[in-house]
Amino acid sequence: MPRHDATPRHPSPPVGAADRRFVLAHCSDPHISWRCPVSWRDLAGKRMLGYLGWRLRRGAEHREEVLDALQRDLREASPDHIAVTGDLTHLGLPREFENARRWLRRFGAPERVTVVPGNHDAYVRDDWGRTFARWGEYMASDDTGPSAGPPPLFPVMRRRGPILLIGLSTAHPNPLHLATGGIGAPQLTRLATALKGAAARGLFRVILIHHPPVDGVVTRRKRLTDAPAFLEAISRYGAELILHGHAHRTTWRILKTTAGVTAVAGAPSASALGRSPDRRARYAIYRIRRAGRGWNVDAVERLYSPGGDAFLTENRRHLHMPEPLA
Ligand SMILES: [Fe+2]
Repeated sequence: MPRHDATPRHPSPPVGAADRRFVLAHCSDPHISWRCPVSWRDLAGKRMLGYLGWRLRRGAEHREEVLDALQRDLREASPDHIAVTGDLTHLGLPREFENARRWLRRFGAPERVTVVPGNHDAYVRDDWGRTFARWGEYMASDDTGPSAGPPPLFPVMRRRGPILLIGLSTAHPNPLHLATGGIGAPQLTRLATALKGAAARGLFRVILIHHPPVDGVVTRRKRLTDAPAFLEAISRYGAELILHGHAHRTTWRILKTTAGVTAVAGAPSASALGRSPDRRARYAIYRIRRAGRGWNVDAVERLYSPGGDAFLTENRRHLHMPEPLA
């Protein structure tokens, strides 16, 4: 995917406005593929295998009623912003992109929702205008707007109060047996510049990425191929929070680097009924507040309860992040 440089054209709100709490919700991997008629013509190449997997196994796991419950819960929580870290589709079909766009619209204005793509969204190479362009408003940087395509343009950079959201694309088509991702040197260069600049401005830096950037979360065939280069940038310039998907289970890791403390958190599929309890749908809410020159983060994990058809609080975490050293 082509990228662009996203230096904000408009001045950002003063950081002083940032002293209030900012509430960020994170969900991932909804795999919205129901109500999507599929013809044999759609199923060339890798899509055929993906479709069979959906019919035989995964279609029973990813459920519309779970996403309906998620929408109700998020309406109640009323976060300032919602991050969705990829795999909104299963086969990357244009009709799935349209279904996912309808789903996103239920969250509210695109300014409140940021999307990065996952490997299923780039399942095979397809026309940008028929696929990702439908999510343009959710992947637009502050300075470009949705009509900047083709194609939008990562890293996406969105300033919201005291937060800088940096959305990376790791999605590219893979051979049949692989689900790897890659960031690429151009995005990594712009990421480093953004992290450094945001640290100097005292912003809370949130990176959105589909593939987990830390070891031991997914198998080699699903890995982020340039994770070492990504982690080197984090180690050098710092970031407060990295949110990812892809693993379909909750993960939580604290990185202590020369640049400060970084929390790395993965959300499972937002639509999973849960063949095993650790894979059942969850999403997270982060309440971020300035604390001196550092930050306090209160994280709440909400778990889907099939019995009550609702999300309930499962885990709470508190994290203090001292002033970044970068
Ligand atoms: Fe996924």
